[in-house]
Amino acid sequence: MTGPAATPVRLRVRPPLSDAELNALFAASWPAHEHTDFGARLERSLLWVAAYRGDELVGYVNVVGDGGVHAFVLDTTVHPAVRRQGVGVRLVRRAADEARMAGARWLHVDYEEHLTGFYARCGFGPTAAGLRRLG
Ligand SMILES: CC(C)(COP(=O)(O)OP(=O)(O)OC[C@H]1O[C@@H](n2cnc3c(N)ncnc32)[C@H](O)[C@@H]1OP(=O)(O)O)[C@@H](O)C(=O)NCCC(=O)NCCS
Repeated sequence: MTGPAATPVRLRVRPPLSDAELNALFAASWPAHEHTDFGARLERSLLWVAAYRGDELVGYVNVVGDGGVHAFVLDTTVHPAVRRQGVGVRLVRRAADEARMAGARWLHVDYEEHLTGFYARCGFGPTAAGLRRLG
């Protein structure tokens, strides 16, 4: 991290993002991260929101859609250096606003148990859902 801690974190919707900066953010944030071709994902995305401290990418969330009223939040990520400052909630809430403007009416997400409170702060209520590993 290069920017001073006092530099405000700002959000941008659908900014151009390079594989290099996304892989750097994910490597710092997800212990099991492996180099990923994010460009292919962004091509299929409904929208994404990025957080910057100065010029540095410090947060990201992706939203995919079904072309209708459903959209799904994926890859919510905040750099460890700026966690617990509200950046994650800002990212997801902004993504929800943008998804609504893009025509979605239902926003889905799945997460591990310990993040129930985080996603409640983002406006999500609990529901029964399923998840199956395919490979
Ligand atoms: C989960 C994550 C995105 C949260 O980002 P963040 O910017 O730190 O979150 P916020 O500051 O907006 O948190 C708001 C509230 O959510 C809850 N929360 C946030 N992170 C939490 C965690 N790891 N465990 C439990 N509760 C958490 C807290 O109530 C927090 O409020 P508090 O700081 O006043 O206690 C971030 O920890 C991260 O990138 N983790 C690794 C990747 C990951 O697991 N992503 C989730 C994919 S579903």
